[in-house]
Amino acid sequence: MDYSKNLITDKTLELLLSLADEVKLKQAIDQQFSGDKINRTEDRAVLHTALRDFDGMKTEVQSVLQKIKAFSETIIGGSHKGYTGKSITDVVNIGIGGSHLGPEMVVDALKFYGNHLKLHFIANVDGDDVAETLKDLNPETTVFIVVSKSFKTQETLANATVVKNWFLKRATKSDVQKHFVAISVNIKAAEEFGIAGDNIFPMEEWVGGRFSLWGSVGLSICCAIGYAHFEELLKGAFEMDKHFKNTEFSENIPVVMALISIWYNNFFNVETEGIAPYSQYLNFLVPYLQQAVMESNGKSVDRNGEKIQYQTGTIVWGNVGTNSQHAYFQLLHQGTKLIPTDFIGFAESLHSNRENHNMLMANFFAQTEALWEGTNHQAPDNAFKVFDGYKPTNTLLIKKLTPHTLGSLISIYEHKLFVQGIIWNIFSYDQWGVELGKSVAEETLKAIEENDPNIMENPSTQNLLREFIKMKTL
Ligand code: F6P
Repeated sequence: MDYSKNLITDKTLELLLSLADEVKLKQAIDQQFSGDKINRTEDRAVLHTALRDFDGMKTEVQSVLQKIKAFSETIIGGSHKGYTGKSITDVVNIGIGGSHLGPEMVVDALKFYGNHLKLHFIANVDGDDVAETLKDLNPETTVFIVVSKSFKTQETLANATVVKNWFLKRATKSDVQKHFVAISVNIKAAEEFGIAGDNIFPMEEWVGGRFSLWGSVGLSICCAIGYAHFEELLKGAFEMDKHFKNTEFSENIPVVMALISIWYNNFFNVETEGIAPYSQYLNFLVPYLQQAVMESNGKSVDRNGEKIQYQTGTIVWGNVGTNSQHAYFQLLHQGTKLIPTDFIGFAESLHSNRENHNMLMANFFAQTEALWEGTNHQAPDNAFKVFDGYKPTNTLLIKKLTPHTLGSLISIYEHKLFVQGIIWNIFSYDQWGVELGKSVAEETLKAIEENDPNIMENPSTQNLLREFIKMKTL
C-alpha cells in the first residue's frame, strides 16, 4: 500500500496517529476481536473475524464450514442428484444486501478459479429479473440457495416464493428438498417456508449481513470455486486480521487508510472517495463496498445518542479502470471537487496476455502520476489544458488476484470502516436507517393493491400513485 501521493506530511500522520490513540483505537480493536457486544444498539458481538480465525476456530464455525464443504462437494462432484436423477449444473443464490453482494462479488472476482457450475444471483424484487434468470434454467439440474439472515426480508421471500412456485409447476413438493437449501439465523422461518432442517445452514447473530460472506453465506462461493479455494479466501482475510490486530498503527494498512480518509473527510470537507480496481474481475467490488461502508458509517447520532456536529461516513463510488478513465476521470483531473481515490492493481494477470496487462498497468500507474503531478512541469498553451495536480490517491499493488489476496483485500476495507466508526464515535454495526423505508413500502404496497393513494401521508406521493394507478390500468 503506497500512500505517498497524498496531501499529508509526516506531521499530519503523526497527529492523526495520536488521534487514533486518543479515541482508544487499540482497546476498541481488542474489544471487537474478543467478542464484546460492541454493536450496542442491537446488543450483539461483531465477530465476522471469528469465521476465519484459524488460530482458534470456534466449534460451531468449524461445523458450519464442514457442512458447506460436504454439500458443495456433492454438488460439484455430481453425486447430488436432482429429482429426475441428473447432476446439478446451475446454482442460484436468492438473497439481497449482505446475502447477495459479497457472494456475487467474490464469485465473479474468482471465476478464473471456478468449475463447471454456473452461478446466478436473484436479489432485486423486480419480477422481470427473476423471470429472465429462470428463463435459462432447468429445474431438474438447478439448486436454489435462499439466503436471508432474518428470513424476513420482503425481496428474498417474494423471490423465493416465485421460484418455488415455478419449480412446483414441474416437480412435486417432495422434490423441493433436493433443490432448495436455506441459510439463516431464523431456522423456524426457513422450515415454515418448506425447507427441511437438514437443508438449513445456520448463521450466527454475531455476524452482520454485510460481513457474512465468510461463513455459511459463502455457500454459493464454495460451489463456484470449491472448498479449498474458499478456505484460501478465509486465510487471506485472517492474515490481514492479524496484521490489523498486531501491527503498530503507523505501519497498519487499514489504520493508515482510515486515518487518511478521515483527514480528507473532516479537514478538507471531502464527501466522496473513489475506488478504481484495475481488474475486470473486481467489477462488483464497488457495490459490495458501498454496502459495507455506507450502511455501516452513514450515521448522524453518536454513541451517546447525541446528534453529530461533524461529517461521518464517506460516499464510496467508482468503477473498474480503464473503463472509468473514459467516463468520469475528467472530473477527477479537472473538476472542482477533490476525490481521493484508491487504485487497486495486480502485478500479474491470470491469463497470459502480457501485452494487454502491461497496457492496463501502464494506465494504472500513469493515472496516479497524472493526478498528482498535473501539468506543473509543463507549460500548457491554454487554460483548458491545465491540470492543477495534487489529486490524492492510494495505490494497492498486489502480486496476483487469488482467493488469498482477495480475502486480504476485503478484510482491509472491513477494518478501515471499523476504525473510522471508532474515530467518529458512531455505532458502525447497526443499520436502523434502512427500516423506515421498509415500513413505508408496506403502506405503499397496501395503497397500490387497494387502489387507494390516500393511505399515504404525503400529497406528492398520493398524486404519483394516482398517476401510477391510471397508467397501469390503461
Ligand atoms: O435492509 C438492509 C439489510 O438488513 C442488510 O443489512 C442485510 O444485508 C439485508 O437487509 C438482507 O437481510 P437478510 O439477510 O436478513 O435477508
